[in-house]
Amino acid sequence: MGTFWIGTGWKMNKTVAETRRYIAALKGLWPEGAGGCTVFVIPPFTALAAAREAIGTMPLLLGAQNMHWAEAGAFTGEISATMLEEFGIDMVELGHSERRQMFGETDAALNMKVKAALRHGLRPLLCVGDSAEERRAGASGEAVVRQVRLAFAGLDAGELGRCLVAYEPIWAIGEGGVAATPEEVRAVHADLHVALKEMGGPAVPVLYGGSVSAGNAADLAAEPMVDGLFVGRAAWTPEGLAGLIAAVAAARA
Ligand code: 13P
Repeated sequence: MGTFWIGTGWKMNKTVAETRRYIAALKGLWPEGAGGCTVFVIPPFTALAAAREAIGTMPLLLGAQNMHWAEAGAFTGEISATMLEEFGIDMVELGHSERRQMFGETDAALNMKVKAALRHGLRPLLCVGDSAEERRAGASGEAVVRQVRLAFAGLDAGELGRCLVAYEPIWAIGEGGVAATPEEVRAVHADLHVALKEMGGPAVPVLYGGSVSAGNAADLAAEPMVDGLFVGRAAWTPEGLAGLIAAVAAARA
């Protein structure tokens, strides 16, 4: 059994001071038995430097929430991979549905971003998700497989092997979202694993995200098709993340 990924994207939350407090507290709460997990946090850009410093030698990976595909240039308000490298980040989240829906991020742009991240040695965490309408039509698997194929188009096996995918149903994310059931997750993850294998990659880990909580994390983590959990609200406190790590580690022990 490979490592189990568990991490949190903070979205547009937490100042530098809050970031320092969160990581310091997490250090004190670090659960025994977390060794089988690879844990990551994805703060906003403005808190990356503080997060890197606070992490020190903790076994905690650091990611950014987005980046531009170009090296530099006239792209007001954007951040390049070169700029992110300065913070010693490990990974970059790409294609969250909030970015696709509210900021017009396209599959074609994501393909360029994935390639740029890989060129810079950053591990892409590609988020894909089905809408409520696609779910009603029984087209969830088809929708997310299409997103993965487009975002990873042109990658060779070695490059695919450095990627992560997060299945985040749009209907499951955030306030008002309802988590997918382990059965739903199993079906979509199976489709994703088949497609990723067809694309020629070694096993690409597929994480689940969307209303993960203390109540459902253990059941989701026990699913063989689930290689990790990508958490929002339930891990925005250090106690929340530490509790989820402990629950997941116990479920997989
Ligand atoms: P919630 O866990 O708050 O539903 O958010 C999930 C998410 O969007 C992680 O990226």
